[in-house]
Amino acid sequence: MTPEPPSKAPILTVGAAVHAYGGKPVLRGVDLTLRPGEIYALLGPNGAGKTTLIRAICGRIRPDGGEVSLNGHDPARVPSARAGLGLVPQEIALYQNLTVAENIETFAALAGTPRAAMAAAVRRALELTRTVDRAHVPVKHLSGGYQRRANIAAAIVHEPSLLILDEPTVGVDIDAREAVDAVIRGLRDLGVAVLMTTHDLDQAGTLADRVGFLREGQMVLEGEPRTLVAQAFGNQMEIMVHLAEEVDTAGEIRLAGEGLERTRRAHIWTRLDADGYAAAGRLDKRLRKVGLTPREIRVREPSLANLFTLVAERKLAA
Ligand SMILES: Nc1ncnc2c1ncn2[C@@H]1O[C@H](COP(=O)(O)OP(=O)(O)OP(=O)(O)O)[C@@H](O)[C@H]1O
Ligand SMILES: [Mg+2]
Repeated sequence: MTPEPPSKAPILTVGAAVHAYGGKPVLRGVDLTLRPGEIYALLGPNGAGKTTLIRAICGRIRPDGGEVSLNGHDPARVPSARAGLGLVPQEIALYQNLTVAENIETFAALAGTPRAAMAAAVRRALELTRTVDRAHVPVKHLSGGYQRRANIAAAIVHEPSLLILDEPTVGVDIDAREAVDAVIRGLRDLGVAVLMTTHDLDQAGTLADRVGFLREGQMVLEGEPRTLVAQAFGNQMEIMVHLAEEVDTAGEIRLAGEGLERTRRAHIWTRLDADGYAAAGRLDKRLRKVGLTPREIRVREPSLANLFTLVAERKLAA
């Protein structure tokens, strides 16, 4: 084994951040550290405090307690610290009538990019976000995926060391999502620290180097996705039963009796079992006997989505 390289100094540290809105606690002692070249996905149910934490990191609110340090400075007190930050908000924030290149130039000018450096800065942002082929198209004529990448281009033109994306792939189709992911990976490989929130747990599992689960303003679980899943589930496998049609109440009771739980996807039920494929075979037989013939049964390793369910429903001692 080669020794671990010395870890780089953090770009961002949040220590014991506390915040309340109108007496209602929203952040209840959150710690977070980000280093150059890592992608961190902030997960958590609606209202968990993800956007509030991002606002605190961007210096848009000053938390009631705790510390935020961005490149060594408090962004709420030292506005220049925010120069090291690029933000891609959930809603596309671009000038719809301007082209992609014109948008990038506008953001670059706002960030203080000197005239002489402008053309190169715009070119670099277009290349890093793979939007060169749409440079001269007005934003309003772009697909959702291109708009998202154009928004990333506008957020990185001043070469921030930390890029924050709030729900970068909402409303973006699968192919376009992969293109967005590739852009995020490319930036990470250049040493940018990436902090993103997402409700897409498949994306978090494949893209993030670390994930953190925020629940009611507290970070209840944090780590590398594969390690967290392995720690929570050991050798258990997920059995997914895809039924041909919706079941009646009697069928539901029968499925629940088999330990199966409804998923968010229509007709798909799931359970965990250490016996994996063998258990799936037995389950298939029993379900057929009572007329609940599965269209398909899949056995797979548990995912971040399974872990998220446990954490959100407080079934995990976290
Ligand atoms: N400006 C505000 N004034 C009062 N309450 C607020 C304000 N902003 C957020 N909240 C409340 O704070 C809590 C956390 O909100 P926040 O937007 O940080 O959650 P979130 O994790 O980003 O949720 P989502 O996944 O829905 O985006 C929620 O209960 C929300 O209603
Ligand atoms: Mg939010």
